[in-house]
Amino acid sequence: MRSHLCGDINETLDGQSVTLCGWVDRRRDLGGLLFIGLRDHAGIVQIVVEPDSPAFADAERLRNEYCVRIRGAVRMRPESQWNASMATGKIEILAQAVELLNASAPMPLLMTDEDGEEIRLRYRYLDLRRPRMQKNMRIRAKLNQSIHRYLDGQGFSEFETPILTKATPEGARDYLVPSRVQAGKFFALPQSPQLFKQLLMMAGMDRYYQIARCFRDEDLRADRQPEFTQLDMELSFVDEAGVQAVAEDLIRSVFNAVLAVRLPTSFPRMTWRNALENYGSDKPDLRYPMCLQSVDEHVSHVDFRVFSGPANAAGQRVAALRVPGGAVFSRKQIDEYTALVARYGAKGLAWIKVNDAATGLAGLQSPIAKFLDDKAWNGIATQTGVESGDLLFFGAGDWLQTSTFMGHLLVRCGQDLDLASADWQPLWVTDFPMFEWDEGEQRYVATHHPFTAPLAESADDLRAAPAGALSRGYDIVLNGTEIGGGSIRIHKPEMQQAVFELLGIGKDEAMAKFGFLLEALKYGCPPHGGIAFGLDRIAALMAGETSIRDVIAFPKTTTAQCPLTDAPSEIATATLDELHIEVKTQ
Ligand code: AMO
Ligand code: AMP
Repeated sequence: MRSHLCGDINETLDGQSVTLCGWVDRRRDLGGLLFIGLRDHAGIVQIVVEPDSPAFADAERLRNEYCVRIRGAVRMRPESQWNASMATGKIEILAQAVELLNASAPMPLLMTDEDGEEIRLRYRYLDLRRPRMQKNMRIRAKLNQSIHRYLDGQGFSEFETPILTKATPEGARDYLVPSRVQAGKFFALPQSPQLFKQLLMMAGMDRYYQIARCFRDEDLRADRQPEFTQLDMELSFVDEAGVQAVAEDLIRSVFNAVLAVRLPTSFPRMTWRNALENYGSDKPDLRYPMCLQSVDEHVSHVDFRVFSGPANAAGQRVAALRVPGGAVFSRKQIDEYTALVARYGAKGLAWIKVNDAATGLAGLQSPIAKFLDDKAWNGIATQTGVESGDLLFFGAGDWLQTSTFMGHLLVRCGQDLDLASADWQPLWVTDFPMFEWDEGEQRYVATHHPFTAPLAESADDLRAAPAGALSRGYDIVLNGTEIGGGSIRIHKPEMQQAVFELLGIGKDEAMAKFGFLLEALKYGCPPHGGIAFGLDRIAALMAGETSIRDVIAFPKTTTAQCPLTDAPSEIATATLDELHIEVKTQ
């Protein structure tokens, strides 16, 4: 039906006759002369229809989003009318024939960034016509293609794993599917293919990957969806370095293939502890030229309990954040930062504006300067390298909580002052704690998942000191986003049993939930490990989008609904009966 794509028309086709198909992006009537922006997935080209053209009457009837086929001749625009913001901005097409393929009802949305999320998702098939969404979806497709190409070259085989399965614990709630033939029983949709990929290693498959859909019923945010896509991988006979080398090379390869971006030849590594100590986050954004500094030694003697208390207590800290140029912050802004850290449990946020760095304490503006002496201030000033015009924030208290709220503050200040460098900053975060203490449940939970191997050599070593135990897990972080996580797995039944025990999963429960895994571990399981990447997150980073919804064709809203299909929806009683289900509405 067509000779070219709209976006492919350029000056080399000057004088040629072309036939194009697409949608009317915009139609303007300039005193009898009609201009039509014709759009397809490749781009937009300007069509001109002259009043005496045989196509004029047909063109006049066109409205936005009508689907049309247009034949015409390519011609150069006069230089004064070149449009640098359009790829096809040097040419236009003089229409000879306009054929209406299908009319459109008036648009229910503006088809611009002004449209709200609800309406965009309700009419997603129209929203996806926009150049921004076309670009995003094609970045995603290219990403998938480049993954297949890379892994194929590295001896990986793609295997599918079940969607109707048993619960795999990744820390979220399961989506359940009732069984009709087994009354009262349910399948769980996989939170990840974790257990099956381990079984594939036990089956001798050696190097597996899968672009796998995962389902997690958790509280949603910009970077979380109830169903999302992982690039899931597992390798046999590897240690951490073996998995990381492949994963890193893969990421370098796909960034080069999709964006022509060259990532560093070796990604930096940072322990979990150092990441929190220095950046207040287990996913530090190294694009910001700021870090946290412990100033405990300078304030341990001051007569200000908020600082001297934590400075002298084990497991606590006083952390300073130097914000270059931050003295411009107003009181109102500082109050907003205080409210931000309060959301992460901070009881306050101390600050010092440095109006004149040369005059010591006299050059400061701060509600807490009165508590400091020369020794304290000189120590802080020298350590942080603070200059006139800067601002220092201080957080004091429990090490993890203080680090975390100061880490959120670091990112927010960096965003507000636009301090991020424009480059890509990947890194590995390693040496995670094996367990986290859950206050609510009064028990340990796995920081990664219960199949992650501890650094401890033996089950007895682990039992002896679970609180400080580190795991063989690792995350890969890019510009402050956790894009992937994995670990070396437990491959011995005794160790797996010990971890279940420490997580409060009794023998019977372990057998009922993971008996098949414990059994499989008995038959010569190879040492193995792997990683899973969040493909939606990688695609969003590549597309420059802040929400993964903008790189998913048909995403759910933040209330886990689909406005397009109106899912989830009610089910007829007869169907529920077959499924042996009775619904309680209250
Ligand atoms: P994990 O739970 O860390 O590990 O998930 C791996 C990666 O998947 C992405 N991700 C998500 N993306 C969008 N929406 C979500 N709700 C969501 N949850 C996670 C993140 C994350 O880094 N089985 C292990 C992997 C392994 O050990 O090999 C796992 O699933 O980018
Ligand atoms: P207060 O003694 O609670 O009135 O606090 C005195 C100053 O210390 C105020 O500027 C508070 O914002 C600040 N402050 C209080 N608690 C903390 C904390 N945990 N970390 C940092 N600053 C704090």
